[in-house]
Amino acid sequence: MLSVRVCSPGSAASLRFCLGCTNKIPLMRESTRCMSWSPRQLRVQISNPPDTVKSEHPRVLITGGLGQLGVGLARLLRKQYGKNNVILSDIKKPSDEVYNSGPFVYADVLDYKNLQELVINNRITWLVHYSALLSAIGEANVALARRVNITGLHNVLDIALENRLRLFVPSTIGAFGPTSPRDPTPDLCIQRPRTIYGVSKVHAELIGEYFHHKYGLDFRCLRYPGIISADTEPGGGTTDYAVKIFHDAVNSKTFDCYLRPDTRLPMMHISDCHRATLEFLQAPAGQLTLRTYNIGAVSFTPEEVAAEIRSHIPELRVTYTLDAVRQSIADSWPRRFDDSNARRDWGWKPSFSLPELVSDMLRSVRAQREKES
Ligand SMILES: NC(=O)c1ccc[n+]([C@@H]2O[C@H](COP(=O)([O-])OP(=O)(O)OC[C@H]3O[C@@H](n4cnc5c(N)ncnc54)[C@H](O)[C@@H]3O)[C@@H](O)[C@H]2O)c1
Repeated sequence: MLSVRVCSPGSAASLRFCLGCTNKIPLMRESTRCMSWSPRQLRVQISNPPDTVKSEHPRVLITGGLGQLGVGLARLLRKQYGKNNVILSDIKKPSDEVYNSGPFVYADVLDYKNLQELVINNRITWLVHYSALLSAIGEANVALARRVNITGLHNVLDIALENRLRLFVPSTIGAFGPTSPRDPTPDLCIQRPRTIYGVSKVHAELIGEYFHHKYGLDFRCLRYPGIISADTEPGGGTTDYAVKIFHDAVNSKTFDCYLRPDTRLPMMHISDCHRATLEFLQAPAGQLTLRTYNIGAVSFTPEEVAAEIRSHIPELRVTYTLDAVRQSIADSWPRRFDDSNARRDWGWKPSFSLPELVSDMLRSVRAQREKES
């Protein structure tokens, strides 16, 4: 039989114990909830403020960890918390380098039981949920994107709730749409995206926040801009051009861009993205006035990044062959992020300006090319 008992915020604030619960769980702070039912009908009791014990020695599982972002984040987290305390997972085969750098396991986010087993057997306390189909790939395969991005998220949310995990789910500039204010885009505004990727990310933001408010789940979400990295490939998003342009500039000094030259989008160097994620995961819960934050760094157009690359490679020639799907997605996205709440609440500050990002990317792409030759 299902029984639901939730302590109301008003009464919780003034009582030391939740009188409705048989276990008499001490109420540690106003937002704490205690309950005897969860979406998977397991007994869940969230009684401790999640930011105290867990942030010291977390054991982290990263889903979808073999894409553009997971390996670098694992490297940073392992430096901080120890190699064996950070487990990378994905449904594809890791390279030898990744496999030898620390624990890796197979995990399909659509397999609830396997995920649950992994979390329990490895005493996971933080879950970083990176599995997703990105914007352009998602539009080409809506049914799969819906399953991975929505059903997969539901599995992860339930497991996080049942095991009292800190859950990080990235969102995106793609969570906004043509009716959102675009320059700048604030944290709270109209969100009516027109892609399955965006719709699934808005769903993730809302259900994560709902679980936080209703059950006390330590849900944390950052809206990443387009991420620029030299040694990992982008996974089929609309901002991928901003990675490819560096490789083509170094390799052939020509680049064919699928977006119009004046398409402005928020972007970020991958080091800033990893650092933001770590700092946000470590931020004491009491400092967070939101559970979903924009994070900004730089904002540029194809012609602006090309001009900056030309200060290093003057011969670079850029042509434009528009991809209608990606152009219409980009035209509905923010041109700049307002990230003032992240800066105020947990001290977010990007390190890379456009000139620094371009110099670093060219240096890294050249170094990689030399290593391969
Ligand atoms: N890279 C960016 O520019 C960017 C920007 C905004 C937000 N994000 C978000 O950050 C996260 C990571 O992005 P990324 O660029 O590394 O993505 P990516 O596409 O490069 O990698 C995603 C990974 O998910 C894995 N995956 C797919 N289906 C899976 C399943 N059923 N079970 C487990 N894993 C599965 C894929 O194998 C892939 O390795 C995503 O949630 C994405 O939405 C990325």
